[in-house]
Amino acid sequence: MALTDFDLVLFGGGGDLSMRKLIPALYARDRAGDLPATAQIICVGRNERSTAEFIETVNENAKSHINEKTFSQAVWDKFCARIKYVALDASDANTYQPLNDALRDSSSVTRVFYLATPPTLFASICHNLSARGLATEQTRVVLEKPLGRDLASAKQINQEVSQVFKESQIYRIDHYLGKEAVQNLLALRFGNVLFEPLWRREWISDVQITIAEEIGVGNRMGYYETSGALRDMMQNHLLQLLCIVAMEPPLSVTPDAVRDEKLKVLRSLKPFTQNTLAKNVVRGQYRAGHVNGVAVPAYRQEKTADPDSNTETFVAVKAEIDTWRWAGVPFYLRTGKRMADQLAEIVVRFKSIPHSIFAQSTSSFQPNCLVIRLQPDDGLQLNLMAKTPGDGMRLKPVELELDFAETFKAPRMDAYERLLLDVLRGQLTLFMRSDELEAAWEWVEPVLRYWEQEGNEPLPYASGTWGPAASSSLIGRDGLQWREEALPE
Ligand code: BG6
Repeated sequence: MALTDFDLVLFGGGGDLSMRKLIPALYARDRAGDLPATAQIICVGRNERSTAEFIETVNENAKSHINEKTFSQAVWDKFCARIKYVALDASDANTYQPLNDALRDSSSVTRVFYLATPPTLFASICHNLSARGLATEQTRVVLEKPLGRDLASAKQINQEVSQVFKESQIYRIDHYLGKEAVQNLLALRFGNVLFEPLWRREWISDVQITIAEEIGVGNRMGYYETSGALRDMMQNHLLQLLCIVAMEPPLSVTPDAVRDEKLKVLRSLKPFTQNTLAKNVVRGQYRAGHVNGVAVPAYRQEKTADPDSNTETFVAVKAEIDTWRWAGVPFYLRTGKRMADQLAEIVVRFKSIPHSIFAQSTSSFQPNCLVIRLQPDDGLQLNLMAKTPGDGMRLKPVELELDFAETFKAPRMDAYERLLLDVLRGQLTLFMRSDELEAAWEWVEPVLRYWEQEGNEPLPYASGTWGPAASSSLIGRDGLQWREEALPE
């Protein structure tokens, strides 16, 4: 579907997210021919500078995030000509006139305000847009994470933003929902008859969801110290993946049909108790170590770090979903920085065969396992047992592999490219609704409080490993192993 002409306003336009993700994503869509000829990108920042000066900064900071193979100077120059820079103080409506001047009539062009700013500014920006008559009925607003730092602040943001925009105008981004593999999981579950009958407690023994990163905190220390892995990754990305795995078939892919089902999952998560908080949550922080053979410092020794910081860079939890479909099936979720590998994957392990008709004992049969890989490249792996060739009847685990890049050979789209297109088209399915956001915070809130009250120091783990030993014990207690730990060396 072709896009209609638009004015896209990026608050925080000179910031890290803009330079690393948003501008490169918009360039990629321009190169693909998706952006209408007169579409404008209006970058808003605090510093007084001209558009020409801002474009110099874009050249220095955003260009390096564009894949060299897809870079064309001619397209880039044409793309940069769309960019306008507007300086204002986001918290002061009196300074908004240059933005009024830059915008066209919202009844003839799509108007989007993308708030890539700290969440503390969301409310004042929305109120100021409203005061200046810029938040019209046709306007859309995009809210970047972190969407609050606990349930109360998330509620507050929802409430303030909803005084200006209707829910149907609000796009809460979780970029994991824009990843190709997540969409493929929907296709796998609801475009095939094969898995759905087995997708339940009777046949699935457990589900593991891992987002492991090799990178550390880098130059985001200021933000990360206010966040930590639970807020930064678990409350949003991991829980959204869990929802897509666990939700009931939605009536359709319309926004509310999908979001209603995800909300039911979030509301069915078994609340933590004092006992499960102590047993089912592991909190870690990286120490010095080696990642890919390179020596890296401890979190507390990173540039501008607080040497006594107790911020977690790793978190693992065992979650349970109290529904007829999932009762008794553990969902193990973990995420960390400076881990042994860069990967994001969902592992669905099926139950063991009930009885062996072969000479091999039942225990020598590896349970079937479906791995949905999101990163580094997206694909599917199905583990089966097969007979080894030749005489006799000896079964061995084998893997069926589906590499999406190989299979489709079509150009790939980054998550932000897809989500920006969806915003510009007015398609809300891949964005979180206010009640979903609050339900996710509600579930993690007791963990935050528990850590605060207990002064719970994170457990150390060496950089380049899979996290603290307690993470292996969390799953080991149930007689299981994280997939990577179970793989042969
Ligand atoms: C962001 C987090 O939301 O997701 C970062 O703030 C994290 O800390 C990033 O590195 C991971 O995203 P991706 O797409 O690189 O896996």
